[in-house]
Amino acid sequence: MATNRTFTMIKPDGVAAHNIGAISKMIEEAGFRIVASKLTQLTPERAGQFYAVHKERPFYGDLCKYMSSGCIVAMILEKDNAVADFRKLIGATDPSKAEAGTIRQLFAKSIEANAVHGSDSDENAQIEGSFFFAKTEEFAY
Ligand code: RTP
Ligand code: MG
Repeated sequence: MATNRTFTMIKPDGVAAHNIGAISKMIEEAGFRIVASKLTQLTPERAGQFYAVHKERPFYGDLCKYMSSGCIVAMILEKDNAVADFRKLIGATDPSKAEAGTIRQLFAKSIEANAVHGSDSDENAQIEGSFFFAKTEEFAY
């Protein structure tokens, strides 16, 4: 059953380029409510845990280095059909293949430095949200 929550991070390239505001604006204008939000920085070890599903992939080492190279903004988002709708809003992993008007098409620098993360399933949205936030840091409004 589809839940109404997903999890996102504005990645280090998005934060470094001062795109927190522009990306958050797109997220809110697409109908998502930000119910938890935090500016923080991952250690390489925590980045490795977060992306553990990719540990056999050739890009895993680089990804962990990149994701811990600067600040990120972690957010839990709420909307009907949140996971699928958010993946649509961010566009393809490779920005050169991302549809016009998507967050990655507009803001990503490369296939790795691609501005935002989006959960790929309801189960992972829950796991990833809990990786950054305690229940007491989530709000409804
Ligand atoms: P994400 O998990 O961050 O939302 O991205 P995604 O689902 O679109 O892509 P995924 O396959 O889960 O890959 C996770 C992140 O790893 C980096 N990546 N680099 N160099 C490469 O070929 C490559 N492929 C993936 C990207 O930062 C990607 O978002
Ligand atoms: Mg993914």
